Amino acid sequence: MKRSTLIALKTLTWVACLWPMGLLVYGAATNNLGPDPTSKLALTTGYNTLLLLILSLAITPVRRLSPRLNWLIKFRRLLGLFAFFYGTVHMLTYVALYSNFDVSAMLDDIARRKFITIGVVAWLLLVPLAATSTNWAIRKLGGKNWNRLHKLVYVAAVCGIIHYWWQVKTGVLSPLRLTVVLAVLLAARPVWTLSQKWMKSRKTAMPAPGD
Ligand code: HEM
Repeated sequence: MKRSTLIALKTLTWVACLWPMGLLVYGAATNNLGPDPTSKLALTTGYNTLLLLILSLAITPVRRLSPRLNWLIKFRRLLGLFAFFYGTVHMLTYVALYSNFDVSAMLDDIARRKFITIGVVAWLLLVPLAATSTNWAIRKLGGKNWNRLHKLVYVAAVCGIIHYWWQVKTGVLSPLRLTVVLAVLLAARPVWTLSQKWMKSRKTAMPAPGD
């Protein structure tokens, strides 16, 4: 891919990722966040955390569809870091606006409400991933360890989905779309590994020409 195309696509990604935050800031500045601004802030940042996390998870399976899509890898870290950014604003919304920085009330809430507990787990899982997203950290950890650690992103996404389901009222199906996408992405991994193994075994079982 040409350098100028890559720069244009990266710029577009930045704009797309910052768009929901821009709308929130604009809504807050113009007093236009609806009847419950705190909830609007939490819902928008929570949803975008999960969406960006799932998009970053989709990069590898989509790349496997064709070698021509290899350039997508250049966007995985960016999407993952934006997911962490929204997740952190989401968490801070809870700390500042829902709990008024009251530590004991927060601890009580985390222990009592399971949807908050799993949200905290999801965010905590994202912390080491964001902290080790630099080239320096990859070098220090070594590719193998880094890859092993970064498998946690799947656990974080699953916790995020459970958190979403536990947060909505009974009968509300809004988390279904992201759940299906995540399920497909999770299934794609073993399917890919099995198909690679099967192709390898076929190659070795096939007689060489002239045998
Ligand atoms: C410290 C960690 C977290 C806390 C305390 C927390 C808290 C909350 C709260 C209070 C809401 C409900 C807002 C409302 O109904 O007004 C919510 C919604 C939500 N959160 Fe979290 N959350 C946390 C982490 C996360 C993480 C890491 C993700 C994603 C991976 C996430 C995804 C969501 C989603 C998708 C929603 C619902 C959005 C919607 O209905 O459109 N949360 N969270």
